Amino acid sequence: MMTQNSKSDVAATSTTRFLTGITTTGTPHLGNYVGSIRPSVQASLRSDVRSFYFLADYHALIKCDEPARIQQSTLEIAASWLAAGLDPERVTFYRQSDIPEIPELTWLLTCVTGKGVLNRAHAYKASVDKNEAAGNDPDADVTAGLFMYPVLMGADILLFKTHKVPVGRDQIQHIEMARDMAQRYNHLYGEHLVLPEAAIEESVALLPGLDGRKMSKSYDNTIPLFTPREQMRKLIAGIVTDSCAPGEPKETEGSALFQIYQAFASADETQALLKAYAEGIAWGDAKQLLFERIDREVAPMRERYHDLISDPAKIEATLQAGAQKARAEATPFMGELRRAVGLRNLATKPAAPSKGKSAKAAAPAFKQYREKDGRFYFKLQDADGKTLLQSQGFESPKDAALMIATLQKEGYAAFAALQGQKQLHTLPDVDAEDVQLALQFFTTSSS
Ligand code: TRP
Repeated sequence: MMTQNSKSDVAATSTTRFLTGITTTGTPHLGNYVGSIRPSVQASLRSDVRSFYFLADYHALIKCDEPARIQQSTLEIAASWLAAGLDPERVTFYRQSDIPEIPELTWLLTCVTGKGVLNRAHAYKASVDKNEAAGNDPDADVTAGLFMYPVLMGADILLFKTHKVPVGRDQIQHIEMARDMAQRYNHLYGEHLVLPEAAIEESVALLPGLDGRKMSKSYDNTIPLFTPREQMRKLIAGIVTDSCAPGEPKETEGSALFQIYQAFASADETQALLKAYAEGIAWGDAKQLLFERIDREVAPMRERYHDLISDPAKIEATLQAGAQKARAEATPFMGELRRAVGLRNLATKPAAPSKGKSAKAAAPAFKQYREKDGRFYFKLQDADGKTLLQSQGFESPKDAALMIATLQKEGYAAFAALQGQKQLHTLPDVDAEDVQLALQFFTTSSS
């Protein structure tokens, strides 16, 4: 299912856009790998999907005030995703704080978000409830950052015209809020934002930790994904089991060891362990089996991880390239969103004062589309929807977006040069003056 609302939705007819962020506060553990990294890397290989993965370091500031930890975690998480096989050529992989359009959009969304809606956000409400239970001021130690968390997340999602957001159940409310923000913005300013949906992977395992509760940093029961081999063995030896002696049949139900094994093993391997449990395998032997099974999958990645982490400059360069790719789309789109709300070049004819639909019709706009030849095009339409100019076909939507960005920034001069190079052409009955007027609309500075 796709939700297509944006008037310049790049090639949305052929691909679904997936986007997900990873908060950079910790060291990735096996639970993150099974629940998020592995399924995301697999999804990114699908040809009908365009994936956006980013390091949510602005979100990290909400819960962490240790600069060194933020930096280290950003490095470790980036290296983990790359070591697990994420191909930055295939996907758009970037760091949130490299995209100034995200905080910029955050403000526009802040202005269409009800404060009462944010009052009800789970994370904020949990803090307030805790304070009230302790007899404290409801907002004691609550930052405005925590309160605004869903709006920043909405900007992450809406800036990239995301259709699907793969997240855990705890995040569904945030996706619904992003949808509401998009709806409200579109209602006021015209159809610009795509309404996103949460994509909950039912099949993805929730991994238990060493103590049997969900593996989570907050329970201090994790097994770091790339901990040294011998350390991994030791940690696995510490997984809680019951007191059944060797030779006694063992229950798989409720066995953390069994569940972790299942998350890594094939169906046949799982069957074999099931049988071994029934036949009374000793816990020590079961732990050894689990260690070997995990190590088989993790060892090759561990090597890549250590190579990556020892060369932070290379990871930095990868992220910079990702940011450039992301901004090729984000910058022109943010320009469109700014103009829609009235942050505009004053030299252009103001749109008729209006609410709702007509606001959109009153402004010139670039539209991107894909033709049957598989190539990516754009056209410029004036405020009445008349097409003024058309581009040549591009290999990738990014190239089209880059040219739009140039036209928006440099206006008529860029147009004349590109026309000279036959990269675009005007339609037969269009005057140069119409093009000039329309382009002027865009040349307002916007980051
Ligand atoms: N809030 C998410 C988490 O803690 C991380 C995140 C930030 C995110 N921005 C996002 C996830 C946008 C999906 C989409 O898990």
